[in-house]
Amino acid sequence: MAEESYRRGLLVLSALTALFTALCKADEVLVYGERQSSVIVPGFSGLETSGRLNWQFSSRKTSAAILDYVIGSAEANISPMYKNRIQFFPSNASVLIKVLQYSDEGNYTLTVQGAVTQTRTVLLQVLGPLSDPLIFSSERNSSVELRCSVVSGSGLTFSWDRDGSALHNDTKYQLMEDYSTLTFTLTIRNLQKSDCGSYKCRVSNPVSVKESSYDLSSGEVCRQEVYLQWLVPVCALVPCALFLIGSGMFYFIKKKTRERHGMSEETDHINA
Ligand SMILES: *[C@@H]1O[C@H](CO)[C@@H](O)[C@H](O)[C@H]1NC(C)=O
Ligand SMILES: *[C@@H]1O[C@H](CO)[C@@H](O)[C@H](O)[C@H]1NC(C)=O
Ligand SMILES: *[C@@H]1O[C@H](CO)[C@@H](O)[C@H](O)[C@H]1NC(C)=O
Ligand SMILES: *[C@@H]1O[C@H](CO)[C@@H](O)[C@H](O)[C@H]1NC(C)=O
Repeated sequence: MAEESYRRGLLVLSALTALFTALCKADEVLVYGERQSSVIVPGFSGLETSGRLNWQFSSRKTSAAILDYVIGSAEANISPMYKNRIQFFPSNASVLIKVLQYSDEGNYTLTVQGAVTQTRTVLLQVLGPLSDPLIFSSERNSSVELRCSVVSGSGLTFSWDRDGSALHNDTKYQLMEDYSTLTFTLTIRNLQKSDCGSYKCRVSNPVSVKESSYDLSSGEVCRQEVYLQWLVPVCALVPCALFLIGSGMFYFIKKKTRERHGMSEETDHINA
Protein backbone atom coordinates (compact mmCIF):
# COMPACT_ATOMS: atom_id res chain seq x y z
CA MET A 1 0.00 0.00 0.00
CA ALA A 2 2.69 2.45 1.05
CA GLU A 3 4.84 1.32 -1.86
CA GLU A 4 1.97 1.99 -4.26
CA SER A 5 1.43 5.57 -3.11
CA TYR A 6 5.20 6.09 -3.17
CA ARG A 7 5.28 4.90 -6.76
CA ARG A 8 2.30 7.12 -7.62
CA GLY A 9 4.05 10.09 -6.04
CA LEU A 10 7.14 9.38 -8.08
CA LEU A 11 5.06 9.23 -11.24
CA VAL A 12 3.40 12.55 -10.52
CA LEU A 13 6.81 14.05 -9.72
CA SER A 14 8.36 12.85 -12.95
CA ALA A 15 5.34 14.04 -14.91
CA LEU A 16 5.65 17.45 -13.28
CA THR A 17 9.38 17.53 -14.01
CA ALA A 18 8.72 16.66 -17.66
CA LEU A 19 6.06 19.35 -17.87
CA PHE A 20 8.36 21.86 -16.22
CA THR A 21 11.26 21.13 -18.58
CA ALA A 22 8.89 21.20 -21.56
CA LEU A 23 7.61 24.59 -20.43
CA CYS A 24 11.12 25.89 -19.99
CA LYS A 25 12.22 24.58 -23.37
CA ALA A 26 9.27 26.16 -25.16
CA ASP A 27 10.68 29.35 -26.54
CA GLU A 28 8.35 32.29 -26.63
CA VAL A 29 8.10 34.80 -29.40
CA LEU A 30 6.16 38.03 -29.66
CA VAL A 31 4.73 38.99 -33.03
CA TYR A 32 2.69 42.07 -33.94
CA GLY A 33 0.05 42.23 -36.61
CA GLU A 34 -2.13 45.01 -37.90
CA ARG A 35 -5.88 44.59 -37.97
CA GLN A 36 -7.22 43.74 -41.46
CA SER A 37 -3.78 42.81 -42.76
CA SER A 38 -1.76 39.57 -42.72
CA VAL A 39 0.90 38.26 -40.41
CA ILE A 40 3.25 35.28 -40.37
CA VAL A 41 3.30 33.26 -37.17
CA PRO A 42 6.77 31.71 -37.35
CA GLY A 43 7.42 28.01 -36.90
CA PHE A 44 10.81 26.29 -36.81
CA SER A 45 13.33 26.36 -39.60
CA GLY A 46 15.16 23.05 -39.01
CA LEU A 47 12.09 20.85 -39.00
CA GLU A 48 12.11 17.09 -38.34
CA THR A 49 11.91 14.92 -41.44
CA SER A 50 9.25 12.67 -40.01
CA GLY A 51 6.54 12.85 -37.41
CA ARG A 52 3.65 15.23 -37.10
CA LEU A 53 2.89 18.71 -35.87
CA ASN A 54 -0.03 20.82 -34.86
CA TRP A 55 -0.87 24.45 -34.22
CA GLN A 56 -3.22 25.45 -31.39
CA PHE A 57 -4.68 28.83 -30.59
CA SER A 58 -5.57 30.04 -27.12
CA SER A 59 -6.72 33.38 -25.83
CA ARG A 60 -8.37 34.43 -22.61
CA LYS A 61 -11.75 33.67 -24.18
CA THR A 62 -11.28 30.57 -26.31
CA SER A 63 -8.94 27.91 -27.49
CA ALA A 64 -9.03 26.10 -30.81
CA ALA A 65 -7.12 23.68 -32.97
CA ILE A 66 -5.81 25.38 -36.10
CA LEU A 67 -4.26 22.56 -38.06
CA ASP A 68 -2.34 19.35 -37.93
CA TYR A 69 0.15 18.10 -40.43
CA VAL A 70 1.96 14.84 -41.07
CA ILE A 71 5.49 15.89 -41.93
CA GLY A 72 6.28 15.16 -45.56
CA SER A 73 2.64 14.92 -46.68
CA ALA A 74 1.21 17.18 -49.35
CA GLU A 75 -1.28 19.14 -47.32
CA ALA A 76 -2.12 20.11 -43.77
CA ASN A 77 -5.46 19.32 -42.25
CA ILE A 78 -6.82 22.77 -41.47
CA SER A 79 -9.77 23.11 -39.12
CA PRO A 80 -12.95 24.55 -40.71
CA MET A 81 -12.92 27.84 -38.85
CA TYR A 82 -9.45 28.63 -40.22
CA LYS A 83 -9.91 27.09 -43.67
CA ASN A 84 -10.03 30.29 -45.75
CA ARG A 85 -8.01 32.45 -43.46
CA ILE A 86 -4.62 30.79 -43.19
CA GLN A 87 -1.84 29.48 -45.34
CA PHE A 88 0.56 26.86 -44.03
CA PHE A 89 4.21 26.63 -45.12
CA PRO A 90 5.44 23.03 -44.70
CA SER A 91 9.09 24.05 -45.20
CA ASN A 92 9.25 25.92 -41.89
CA ALA A 93 5.90 25.12 -40.26
CA SER A 94 4.95 28.81 -40.34
CA VAL A 95 1.37 29.96 -40.68
CA LEU A 96 0.16 33.05 -42.50
CA ILE A 97 -3.02 34.50 -41.01
CA LYS A 98 -5.02 36.79 -43.26
CA VAL A 99 -7.44 39.65 -42.50
CA LEU A 100 -6.47 39.84 -38.84
CA GLN A 101 -9.15 40.58 -36.24
CA TYR A 102 -8.67 41.63 -32.65
CA SER A 103 -10.01 38.20 -31.68
CA ASP A 104 -6.91 36.63 -33.29
CA GLU A 105 -4.81 38.06 -30.49
CA GLY A 106 -3.46 35.35 -28.22
CA ASN A 107 -1.02 32.48 -27.99
CA TYR A 108 -0.24 30.24 -30.94
CA THR A 109 1.44 27.01 -29.92
CA LEU A 110 3.25 24.76 -32.32
CA THR A 111 3.96 21.21 -31.18
CA VAL A 112 6.26 19.06 -33.30
CA GLN A 113 6.34 15.35 -32.46
CA GLY A 114 9.29 13.71 -34.13
CA ALA A 115 12.29 11.97 -32.59
CA VAL A 116 11.90 14.57 -29.84
CA THR A 117 8.97 16.78 -29.02
CA GLN A 118 9.45 20.49 -29.56
CA THR A 119 7.03 23.26 -28.79
CA ARG A 120 7.00 26.92 -29.51
CA THR A 121 4.55 29.55 -28.37
CA VAL A 122 4.06 32.74 -30.33
CA LEU A 123 2.14 35.56 -28.72
CA LEU A 124 0.37 37.56 -31.40
CA GLN A 125 -0.72 41.09 -30.63
CA VAL A 126 -3.16 42.72 -33.01
CA LEU A 127 -2.86 46.48 -33.26
CA GLY A 128 -5.32 48.89 -34.77
CA PRO A 129 -4.29 50.90 -37.81
CA LEU A 130 -2.79 54.26 -36.93
CA SER A 131 -4.57 57.46 -37.79
CA ASP A 132 -2.68 60.35 -39.32
CA PRO A 133 -1.32 62.57 -36.57
CA LEU A 134 -2.83 66.03 -36.23
CA ILE A 135 -0.71 69.02 -35.29
CA PHE A 136 -1.95 72.07 -33.43
CA SER A 137 0.20 75.06 -32.64
CA SER A 138 0.05 77.79 -30.09
CA GLU A 139 2.40 80.66 -29.63
CA ARG A 140 3.12 82.45 -26.44
CA ASN A 141 5.77 84.93 -25.60
CA SER A 142 8.62 83.98 -27.82
CA SER A 143 8.00 80.22 -27.86
CA VAL A 144 5.83 78.11 -30.03
CA GLU A 145 4.24 74.86 -28.94
CA LEU A 146 3.42 72.18 -31.53
CA ARG A 147 1.14 69.45 -30.24
CA CYS A 148 1.04 66.28 -32.28
CA SER A 149 -1.63 63.73 -31.45
CA VAL A 150 -3.31 60.62 -32.77
CA VAL A 151 -6.84 59.45 -32.07
CA SER A 152 -5.99 55.96 -30.91
CA GLY A 153 -3.25 53.39 -30.84
CA SER A 154 -1.20 51.21 -28.57
CA GLY A 155 2.52 50.57 -28.33
CA LEU A 156 3.12 54.01 -29.79
CA THR A 157 6.37 55.87 -30.14
CA PHE A 158 6.66 59.45 -31.30
CA SER A 159 9.43 61.61 -32.66
CA TRP A 160 9.82 65.12 -34.01
CA ASP A 161 12.29 66.09 -36.65
CA ARG A 162 13.36 69.05 -38.67
CA ASP A 163 14.94 68.68 -42.12
CA GLY A 164 15.42 64.99 -41.49
CA SER A 165 17.24 65.19 -38.18
CA ALA A 166 15.61 64.17 -34.94
CA LEU A 167 15.06 66.81 -32.28
CA HIS A 168 16.00 66.21 -28.65
CA ASN A 169 15.55 68.00 -25.37
CA ASP A 170 18.04 70.83 -25.22
CA THR A 171 18.08 74.57 -24.66
CA LYS A 172 16.16 75.17 -27.88
CA TYR A 173 13.64 72.33 -27.83
CA GLN A 174 11.55 70.59 -25.24
CA LEU A 175 9.80 67.34 -26.09
CA MET A 176 7.08 66.02 -23.82
CA GLU A 177 4.96 62.93 -24.22
CA ASP A 178 1.55 62.36 -22.72
CA TYR A 179 0.42 58.81 -23.34
CA SER A 180 -2.94 59.38 -21.65
CA THR A 181 -3.94 61.79 -24.42
CA LEU A 182 -1.57 60.34 -27.06
CA THR A 183 -0.03 63.76 -27.51
CA PHE A 184 3.59 64.60 -28.11
CA THR A 185 4.46 68.25 -27.68
CA LEU A 186 7.43 70.07 -29.15
CA THR A 187 8.21 73.47 -27.66
CA ILE A 188 10.56 75.70 -29.59
CA ARG A 189 11.95 78.34 -27.28
CA ASN A 190 13.22 81.79 -28.08
CA LEU A 191 11.75 81.72 -31.54
CA GLN A 192 13.93 83.25 -34.21
CA LYS A 193 13.83 83.55 -37.96
CA SER A 194 16.18 80.60 -38.26
CA ASP A 195 13.49 78.44 -36.64
CA CYS A 196 10.99 79.07 -39.41
CA GLY A 197 10.55 76.01 -41.58
CA SER A 198 8.99 72.60 -41.65
CA TYR A 199 8.68 70.28 -38.63
CA LYS A 200 7.64 66.68 -38.89
CA CYS A 201 5.92 64.57 -36.27
CA ARG A 202 6.24 60.82 -36.72
CA VAL A 203 4.10 58.32 -34.86
CA SER A 204 4.74 54.62 -35.08
CA ASN A 205 3.67 51.36 -33.56
CA PRO A 206 5.41 48.03 -34.28
CA VAL A 207 3.45 47.60 -37.52
CA SER A 208 3.12 51.04 -39.09
CA VAL A 209 4.40 54.59 -39.27
CA LYS A 210 2.43 57.77 -39.89
CA GLU A 211 3.73 61.30 -40.13
CA SER A 212 2.50 64.85 -40.54
CA SER A 213 4.35 68.08 -41.15
CA TYR A 214 3.84 71.53 -39.82
CA ASP A 215 5.13 74.58 -41.60
CA LEU A 216 6.24 77.11 -39.07
CA SER A 217 5.83 80.13 -41.32
CA SER A 218 2.73 81.60 -39.76
CA GLY A 219 4.40 82.51 -36.50
CA GLU A 220 4.84 86.21 -35.86
CA VAL A 221 8.58 86.05 -36.31
CA CYS A 222 8.22 84.23 -39.61
CA ARG A 223 5.48 86.53 -40.82
CA GLN A 224 7.78 89.48 -40.27
CA GLU A 225 10.24 87.82 -42.51
CA VAL A 226 7.58 87.28 -45.14
CA TYR A 227 6.58 90.95 -44.95
CA LEU A 228 10.20 91.95 -45.33
CA GLN A 229 10.54 89.77 -48.37
CA TRP A 230 7.65 91.62 -49.95
CA LEU A 231 8.60 95.00 -48.63
CA VAL A 232 11.86 95.28 -50.58
CA PRO A 233 10.40 94.87 -54.07
CA VAL A 234 7.32 96.89 -53.08
CA CYS A 235 9.51 99.73 -51.87
CA ALA A 236 11.43 99.65 -55.11
CA LEU A 237 8.26 99.46 -57.19
CA VAL A 238 6.35 102.31 -55.60
CA PRO A 239 8.62 105.18 -56.78
CA CYS A 240 8.88 103.50 -60.14
CA ALA A 241 5.11 103.28 -60.44
CA LEU A 242 4.73 106.86 -59.26
CA PHE A 243 7.23 107.96 -61.87
CA LEU A 244 5.38 106.07 -64.61
CA ILE A 245 2.00 107.47 -63.58
CA GLY A 246 3.49 110.92 -63.26
CA SER A 247 5.10 110.88 -66.66
CA GLY A 248 1.94 109.42 -68.15
CA MET A 249 -0.11 112.23 -66.75
CA PHE A 250 2.45 114.78 -67.86
CA TYR A 251 2.35 113.43 -71.40
CA PHE A 252 -1.47 113.34 -71.41
CA ILE A 253 -1.82 116.91 -70.18
CA LYS A 254 0.78 118.12 -72.62
CA LYS A 255 -0.99 116.37 -75.49
CA LYS A 256 -4.37 117.84 -74.45
CA THR A 257 -2.99 121.39 -74.32
CA ARG A 258 -1.30 121.00 -77.68
CA GLU A 259 -4.55 119.65 -79.18
CA ARG A 260 -6.50 122.62 -77.81
CA HIS A 261 -3.83 124.97 -79.24
CA GLY A 262 -3.99 123.30 -82.64
CA MET A 263 -7.79 123.45 -82.69
CA SER A 264 -7.88 127.16 -81.90
CA GLU A 265 -5.29 127.79 -84.63
CA GLU A 266 -7.49 125.89 -87.04
CA THR A 267 -10.61 127.87 -86.14
CA ASP A 268 -8.58 131.05 -86.50
CA HIS A 269 -7.73 129.89 -89.96
CA ILE A 270 -11.34 129.25 -90.92
CA ASN A 271 -12.42 132.59 -89.58
CA ALA A 272 -9.79 134.27 -91.62
C1 LIG B 1 8.49 30.25 -44.09
O1 LIG B 1 8.46 29.96 -45.45
C2 LIG B 1 7.66 30.83 -46.24
C3 LIG B 1 7.63 30.30 -47.67
O2 LIG B 1 8.84 29.77 -48.04
C4 LIG B 1 8.23 32.23 -46.16
O3 LIG B 1 7.44 33.14 -46.91
C5 LIG B 1 8.27 32.68 -44.71
O4 LIG B 1 8.87 33.93 -44.61
C6 LIG B 1 9.00 31.67 -43.84
N1 LIG B 1 8.81 32.06 -42.48
C7 LIG B 1 9.80 32.16 -41.62
C8 LIG B 1 9.44 32.58 -40.23
O5 LIG B 1 10.94 31.94 -41.91
C1 LIG C 1 -0.04 33.74 -23.49
O1 LIG C 1 0.83 32.94 -22.72
C2 LIG C 1 1.48 33.62 -21.66
C3 LIG C 1 2.39 32.65 -20.98
O2 LIG C 1 3.11 31.94 -21.90
C4 LIG C 1 0.47 34.18 -20.71
O3 LIG C 1 1.11 34.92 -19.71
C5 LIG C 1 -0.50 35.08 -21.44
O4 LIG C 1 -1.51 35.50 -20.55
C6 LIG C 1 -1.13 34.34 -22.60
N1 LIG C 1 -1.93 35.30 -23.35
C7 LIG C 1 -3.17 35.05 -23.77
C8 LIG C 1 -3.88 36.13 -24.50
O5 LIG C 1 -3.69 33.95 -23.60
C1 LIG D 1 6.06 85.63 -20.89
O1 LIG D 1 7.18 86.45 -20.61
C2 LIG D 1 7.08 87.24 -19.45
C3 LIG D 1 8.29 88.14 -19.34
O2 LIG D 1 9.20 87.93 -20.38
C4 LIG D 1 6.96 86.32 -18.24
O3 LIG D 1 6.80 87.07 -17.07
C5 LIG D 1 5.76 85.40 -18.42
O4 LIG D 1 5.70 84.47 -17.36
C6 LIG D 1 5.85 84.67 -19.73
N1 LIG D 1 4.63 83.91 -19.95
C7 LIG D 1 4.62 82.64 -20.29
C8 LIG D 1 3.28 82.04 -20.43
O5 LIG D 1 5.63 82.00 -20.47
C1 LIG E 1 12.31 66.33 -21.97
O1 LIG E 1 12.36 66.99 -20.73
C2 LIG E 1 11.13 67.01 -20.00
C3 LIG E 1 11.33 67.81 -18.76
O2 LIG E 1 11.73 69.12 -19.05
C4 LIG E 1 10.67 65.61 -19.69
O3 LIG E 1 9.43 65.65 -19.05
C5 LIG E 1 10.54 64.86 -20.98
O4 LIG E 1 10.19 63.51 -20.73
C6 LIG E 1 11.83 64.90 -21.79
N1 LIG E 1 11.57 64.33 -23.08
C7 LIG E 1 12.26 63.31 -23.59
C8 LIG E 1 11.86 62.84 -24.93
O5 LIG E 1 13.19 62.81 -22.97
